Amino acid sequence: VKIDLISANDLSRADIDLYLEGATWVAGASPSEKLALLRGRILMAMFFEPSTRTRLSFESAMCRLGGNAIGFSDVAATSVSKGESFLDTVHTVENYADILVIRHSREGAARIAAEASRLPVINAGDGTNQHPSQTLLDLYTIRRFFGRLEGIRIALVGDLKYSRTVHSLFRALRLFDGVSFRLVSPPSLKMPDYLLPAGQDSVQQGSDLVEAVSDCDVIYMTRIQKERFPDVVEYERLKDSYRLDAKMLTGAKPHLKVMHPLPRVNEIANDVDPTPCSGYFEQVANGVIMRQAILLHLLGARP
Ligand code: NCD
Repeated sequence: VKIDLISANDLSRADIDLYLEGATWVAGASPSEKLALLRGRILMAMFFEPSTRTRLSFESAMCRLGGNAIGFSDVAATSVSKGESFLDTVHTVENYADILVIRHSREGAARIAAEASRLPVINAGDGTNQHPSQTLLDLYTIRRFFGRLEGIRIALVGDLKYSRTVHSLFRALRLFDGVSFRLVSPPSLKMPDYLLPAGQDSVQQGSDLVEAVSDCDVIYMTRIQKERFPDVVEYERLKDSYRLDAKMLTGAKPHLKVMHPLPRVNEIANDVDPTPCSGYFEQVANGVIMRQAILLHLLGARP
């Protein structure tokens, strides 16, 4: 049976461990020993929404494993602009590749494609819903920082309503013992109720970033998701809700790490970059490692 990567909800602890092990292998392997693994295989990147890191790191990952990457990131230049349906597009491009990577503004789009296609599908972000490959690279990054995931105290900060990265991460981290959360957002951008666990002992909700900085191991910042707001006035009101700068880190635990899926707009000042707290460019570096592990797993080429 084919394996897809659609939602953090589908991942067991054992699945996650497998991806983490895969990434550890990729990180230690030499460029030449990886180059034969996916030779002759083709990745199709279908990006109906903008992307820098996710698309380019999947393409880079494929190239580093000896495969090739093709696709589109400008929907207007495809036959979708002539009225072609999403599923006709999927059924067309599946003839040209071995694996599909799909980003779409509609929640559930990647799932629909995975059900319709014989190829493995990776959800590279579906609307406000899920972004599981980002979560796997985030987990790998946290484990690199702390040597473990168990017992980590993490603040998820900013747009918890619309950010798919934290929707996936919040779910996956709960599979690890002793992880506790601070959910920090403006009242109107709270984590949706349907994503909150039944027993909420490990989850504390509030809106104060300074408090979170003083007692967490990880501060996971998010961008206010402008493109999801039905009302631009509301976005303007909330866009500068949180801005973390170096001065605010003085009360932090010495090992604190600041993470962000990027792109950042205003929520992390540039003066955080040179501090030992900044972890977001390590996330970028780990992205291409984890995405190699994902491709190897889904294409059945794990060494
Ligand atoms: C995120 C996304 O697309 O959800 N970007 C990413 O993949 N690193 C975060 C965002 O756009 O804010």
